[in-house]
Amino acid sequence: MNPHDLLGRPLGTLRLSVTDRCNFRCVYCLPPRGNHPLGNESPDFSAPEQVLTDEEILRLAGIFAGLGAARVRVTGGEPLLRPGVSRLVAGLTALPGVEEVALTTNGWHLAAQAQALKQAGLKRVTVSLDSLDPKVFARMNGGRGHPERVVEGIHQALAQGLTPLKINTVVQRGVNDHGLEDLAQFARETGAVLRLIEYMDAGTLHPWNAEQVVPSAEIRARLARRFGLEPLETEPGMGGVASRYRYGDGKGEVGFISSITQPFCAGCTRARLSAAGVFYTCLFAREGLNLREPLRQGASNQDLARLIASQWTSRSDRYSEQRGLHPPASGRRVSMHQVGG
Ligand code: GTP
Ligand code: 5AD
Ligand code: SF4
Ligand code: SF4
Repeated sequence: MNPHDLLGRPLGTLRLSVTDRCNFRCVYCLPPRGNHPLGNESPDFSAPEQVLTDEEILRLAGIFAGLGAARVRVTGGEPLLRPGVSRLVAGLTALPGVEEVALTTNGWHLAAQAQALKQAGLKRVTVSLDSLDPKVFARMNGGRGHPERVVEGIHQALAQGLTPLKINTVVQRGVNDHGLEDLAQFARETGAVLRLIEYMDAGTLHPWNAEQVVPSAEIRARLARRFGLEPLETEPGMGGVASRYRYGDGKGEVGFISSITQPFCAGCTRARLSAAGVFYTCLFAREGLNLREPLRQGASNQDLARLIASQWTSRSDRYSEQRGLHPPASGRRVSMHQVGG
């Protein structure tokens, strides 16, 4: 069975957060304390007993796969902080109905784990990297670490064949937008696909404002002047979050993820499961469906499949298309560190 939602969108991808903890404190996701627009709001990390075990995750992922979620993207927080994450990846790749397992990481622990992840059957990784300039990098991730170690992770992952390897860069005006040509050149040279992401109002832990968003069209014009760009087709079967371009000389590709200026809700086939087992049908959801409780209270696979399908079929989310209707401070939404983007 493959449930379709109220707007006719099938369930296609499971974004699976395996921990809500992170060793970084990115200003646009999980800013250090004292930076919250709602004053006293602070991140609520799940207690260890709330976090799903490997066995529980595999059971739920198997049920999602049975309902059509053939692609699984492992996220966090930072997924490589979860002990035994490679073993879990191996379990996911072995599930009937799962065709591809990918993972999004901040890259800090990637060099050390790339080989084990590859051996576990992971297909590809996406690495977040906002700047190659150590000062800008630190400013954006809360002063944790330096870009060289992330770059080393990218090289190791490429060497292991975790490809196509994508680099995610969140663009903030006046913070990292001046270094994007350098990042594009770096990605071209290493063989990675750079994706430039419009800064989103996701979660309610960071003080988002529209002035900090650089519209993709502006960056695209800059990169076109420097390198030349030709449009490419949307990635087949991916649900299409990025609009893709090839560089004029044919060497490499760049993508733009423009949730603010060009929302892509019409093709949104993504379900999100938090580390604590809450199922969200939108990145901007206020509430989700707790699957951990029925799971731990003995629900059968059939019961759980019915719960998931019924949540999906009653979904009509299209937050990015309706952004203007949601005033920024109108209550708490799920945070990026809980659903991994
Ligand atoms: P592939 O296309 O399979 O490579 O993965 P992806 O781009 O969906 O995953 P990734 O984790 O790299 O996400 C890239 C960026 O797109 C992140 O900033 C996400 O938050 C954002 N994103 C992913 N899915 C959605 C979505 O459904 N809605 C919105 N608004 N943003 C999304
Ligand atoms: N806006 C845009 N992208 C974001 N990410 C995290 N927070 C935001 C935000 N507010 C990105 C991260 C990571 C991906 C999973 O989501 O950089 O690459
Ligand atoms: Fe951590 Fe990723 Fe959030 Fe940055 S964006 S704080 S790396 S979970
Ligand atoms: Fe999907 Fe919600 Fe993102 Fe729209 S805003 S693409 S409905 S997750």
